[in-house]
Amino acid sequence: MTQLSSSSDVPSMGRRQFMNLLTFGTVGGVAAGALYPVIKYFIPPSAGGAGGGVVAKDALGNDIVVSEYVKTHLAGDRSLSQGLKGDPTYLVVKEDLSIESYGINAICTHLGCVVPWNPAENKFMCPCHGSQYDSTGKVVRGPAPLSLALAHAEVTDDKVSLTPWTEEDFRTGEDPWWA
Ligand code: FES
Repeated sequence: MTQLSSSSDVPSMGRRQFMNLLTFGTVGGVAAGALYPVIKYFIPPSAGGAGGGVVAKDALGNDIVVSEYVKTHLAGDRSLSQGLKGDPTYLVVKEDLSIESYGINAICTHLGCVVPWNPAENKFMCPCHGSQYDSTGKVVRGPAPLSLALAHAEVTDDKVSLTPWTEEDFRTGEDPWWA
């Protein structure tokens, strides 16, 4: 009889422990998920490279060489490069074939689609839910709540160095929401 009761206890204890483990695991998972942005916040941006910047790269992961780039990317061109944190970032070619001093992060501020440039409309137009941004990435039509993020783009040694934009957003006159 004793044996019977203990043998029925064992699986029940085991189940309880398992349930405890499962609950802890779930809570732990949720906590880790909630903490992720906090942890990310404390990782210095310089972890990505000297001075917090990266050299803009093409789709193959090679450094973009400006003197070559402007032979095929003409005035007004907005094409994607790999930018800060690997984010798709538009480089802008100015009328004089120099590179604009800012790059435009292509991630839609609505739900994160990559927003294509539409040269015929002179706008970035998100295919997901129809948000639109002007040629500087300023939001002009929702549902996107905010303009596209900016990065500083500086040409050094024929490469484009992208660094975090932490100053006022020149398009809105407000603090940058992404910094
Ligand atoms: S993700 Fe761009 S409009 Fe929704």
